[in-house]
Amino acid sequence: MGKIIAIASQKGGVGKTTTAINLSTSIAVKGKKVLVIDSDPQASLTFGFGIRRNGEKIKGLYELYAGKAEFVEVSLKIFENLYIIPSKVDLFMAELEIFDTEERERRLKCIIDSFKVDFDYIFIDCPPSFSFLTLCALVASDSVLIPVQCEQFAVEALRVFIKLLWRIKANFNESLELEGILLTMFSKHLTLSRVILEDVKKVFRSKTFETIIPRNVALAEATQKGLPAVFYAPDAIGSLAYRQLASEFIAKQC
Ligand SMILES: Nc1ncnc2c1ncn2[C@@H]1O[C@H](COP(=O)(O)OP(=O)(O)OP(=O)(O)O)[C@@H](O)[C@H]1O
Ligand SMILES: [Mg+2]
Repeated sequence: MGKIIAIASQKGGVGKTTTAINLSTSIAVKGKKVLVIDSDPQASLTFGFGIRRNGEKIKGLYELYAGKAEFVEVSLKIFENLYIIPSKVDLFMAELEIFDTEERERRLKCIIDSFKVDFDYIFIDCPPSFSFLTLCALVASDSVLIPVQCEQFAVEALRVFIKLLWRIKANFNESLELEGILLTMFSKHLTLSRVILEDVKKVFRSKTFETIIPRNVALAEATQKGLPAVFYAPDAIGSLAYRQLASEFIAKQC
């Protein structure tokens, strides 16, 4: 099947990487074969899976963009059913180096086409910007999952991002769909969190995941330890929420 899902938002720190790590792991645990691609030069996803903690030399997405390595040389098996294409800061160079090449925005799509049949789902963790790397990810994807932090101006930022998505759909990738909006870092005791939840559901009801990710320190601690929270702290409320999200996500695909 090989469905490709970009996890994207132009806003920083909204839970894109935390979602990429814990959703991909939870789906893999359910027996689906999953690949997760770190398309952010900050490499938080790579660190979050405990790779490169000791600064060892690895090949990653940059080498694929630059044509310097094949998929088998850069992909790493993390757990049963879960694979990663890691990144490091040199991913910044991809944009500069292929600036003049034809159909450069289709480069990632062509790369993924060569191995996508081997996976049930491929998630792409995007950087927090409208950069070339984000464009490539959206051109390569079948759908977009947008994490929205329950904070001020969330709805305004979401409207801006969805407008951008439809422009990309019109100009570069007509089959691009909205997978869903995921509310993250929800604090039930904060009035603002509840207001944002209501606002997002009012405007995007049918496109908002039922599962809401709570603010939970175990999620942040796990990333620091280089482990998915669903393994590091399986009983934490954040881990339970990501497992529930995985069930909701898989049920939606049927
Ligand atoms: N539900 C949560 N509860 C508590 N902390 C969280 C939660 N989700 C994410 N965090 C923490 O918030 C910070 C930002 O999360 P994350 O890195 O997933 O966001 P991001 O959107 O990928 O950021 P960037 O835009 O920089 O790539 C991290 O320190 C992470 O550990
Ligand atoms: Mg991130």
